[in-house]
Amino acid sequence: MNLPSRVTLVDVGPRDGLQNEKQPVATEHKAQLVAMLQAAGLREIEVTSFVSPKWVPQMADNEAVMAAIARQPGVRYSVLTPNMKGLEAALPTKPDEIVVFAAASEAFSQKNINCSIAESIERFAPVVEAAHAAGLKVRGALSCAVGCPYEGDISADQVERVVLLMKGIGVDHLGVADTIGVGTPRKIQAAMERALKHYPLVEVSGHFHDTYGQALSNIYACLELGVHNFDASVAGLGGCPYAKGATGNVATEDVVFMLNGLGLETGIDIDKLVDAGAYISNVLGRPPVSRVGRALLAKRAG
Ligand code: HMG
Ligand code: MG
Repeated sequence: MNLPSRVTLVDVGPRDGLQNEKQPVATEHKAQLVAMLQAAGLREIEVTSFVSPKWVPQMADNEAVMAAIARQPGVRYSVLTPNMKGLEAALPTKPDEIVVFAAASEAFSQKNINCSIAESIERFAPVVEAAHAAGLKVRGALSCAVGCPYEGDISADQVERVVLLMKGIGVDHLGVADTIGVGTPRKIQAAMERALKHYPLVEVSGHFHDTYGQALSNIYACLELGVHNFDASVAGLGGCPYAKGATGNVATEDVVFMLNGLGLETGIDIDKLVDAGAYISNVLGRPPVSRVGRALLAKRAG
């Protein structure tokens, strides 16, 4: 089996991880988390989102967080922008990349961004155009790519339909997201293959929540297809406020441990990554969800 020799991880912990936290997390802690992630070797970090503060209060300090991060050359900082209002607020904060987010399921689209899939694409079109005009890359997240908390199973045909819509408006990169973590390897491969029909390998990524503990297997299944870009969340933080019961993304520590074992290069120092996970978990007052994080911390303590 020929797996890719190098894998790029985007740490989405500061955004996807923290957006779901009920307790306010101070801006300085968010900035410190970003600092520790880049110190650990992460070269892509999803920092915050420019969404309605009424919908997601935890991300209300988006401008302050972008101002507080100590940018390091070679690191790309991305933010979520669901509409022109979000993009207009984001641009002065100088992200390197923006993320628009659609869903393969109508019901999830309504719950998450208050519009149909078709309306979301209409909203994103000028956002993509303006982002490109500003020289920014646009990633597209495609939620509920195998299952929806409201509609149940989602077919690969439903996925491909939205992949094509995203491509039609010029989205540069397609992230296949298992929002509620119900995917298993063959189902994930089937969804991925539809993205790969329309996007080059280098512009497709996996974003797997680990609710059912399947995310590492799903990443391995994607490596088998040659996919080598994945989102992950330090300490396994997070979830989506509009996908009740869904837990965090696969923990970055767990992914790096698996990739190290496979001999695949990530450029990430796992000890420093564990430090970042321990730091934010301490801020939140609970142990890291990451199994690898907990194991390595226990080993250090012992
Ligand atoms: P809406 O209510 O339909 O929007 O929300 P609207 O245009 O009718 O505006 C209503 C109010 O929101 C107005 O304010 C606007 O100014 C304001 P008011 O006049 O009532 O005071 N508003 C905004 N404020 C700040 N920033 C903005 C913005 N837009 C409008 N950009 C909207 C539509 C998309 C804004 C709303 O539904 C929203 O913010 N949703 C949040 C969705 C979200 O953040 N979800 C979590 C992230 S996605 C995710 O986690 C999935 C992912 O990880 C992949 C996966 O796992 O599946 C990416
Ligand atoms: Mg997510």
